[in-house]
Amino acid sequence: MVTTQNKCKSIVVKFGGSVITDKTKSYTIKHDVLDRLAKITKEYLEEGGKIAIVHGGGSFGHHEVKRIEEEKGVLESSDAPQIQYSMLLLALEVSKTLLKHGIPAVLHPPHTLCDKPTVKDCRMSPIIRDYAQSLVPVTYGDAIPYDDKIYIISGDDLAAALVSILSTDCLVYVIDEPGVMTSEGKILETLTSLKNLELREDNKIDVTGGLRKKLETALELSHHYRGTIIITNPDGFEKILKGQDIKSVGTVIRATRSED
Ligand code: IPE
Repeated sequence: MVTTQNKCKSIVVKFGGSVITDKTKSYTIKHDVLDRLAKITKEYLEEGGKIAIVHGGGSFGHHEVKRIEEEKGVLESSDAPQIQYSMLLLALEVSKTLLKHGIPAVLHPPHTLCDKPTVKDCRMSPIIRDYAQSLVPVTYGDAIPYDDKIYIISGDDLAAALVSILSTDCLVYVIDEPGVMTSEGKILETLTSLKNLELREDNKIDVTGGLRKKLETALELSHHYRGTIIITNPDGFEKILKGQDIKSVGTVIRATRSED
């Protein structure tokens, strides 16, 4: 059983695109990392944990968006199928790996759920249905054609919406650093605000705003979400699944609340 001390008996996890794909090479999956994430998730499920999985676009979606932008200069709704297809390829690989490890993963492509490119306009009922039956919903950042344009809905935003909808104890963002790193290379134990904070931003391709946008979303969420929001790497994720004290496994995101 997931022990009573484990703060995260239910989790929405977002596997960042840079964790599960090689962002320097188009359409390249980090199979070893994906296998490891699947293995530890399976163990967590066997112990009685509950989880919903969201993943990013990495060298699939982000590269496809860049490629089209560079080729045509603009993104139109007619470009959506290409981007959606690139994300489906990645999502199928993620599902395949999860299934191989015995995880009952069910894929939910956002372009079939979201009427508009905002999470509040996504019909999450099929995800709720599956989660309630102890299946493992899998969704991801995707391209949503709307108003003759294309919008990218990020996995970060979907994950932030799902924690409230599924009432999970924790939201874990798995990135390729052990937490939020300042420009001096220091990992923060807690993040309460982005004011005066210089991040060690990288310059890899990212069409949805990168780490800073992720942190803004997480800080905003922490105003009303009573669960725990943590940013960590695969090692930290494993420790969380095993019930280790969350203080030592990454950066906890918690905006200072007025009642604090
Ligand atoms: C991006 O999703 C999806 C597309 C580019 C189509 P995310 O914004 O969640 O992806 P990562 O985690 O930054 O790669």
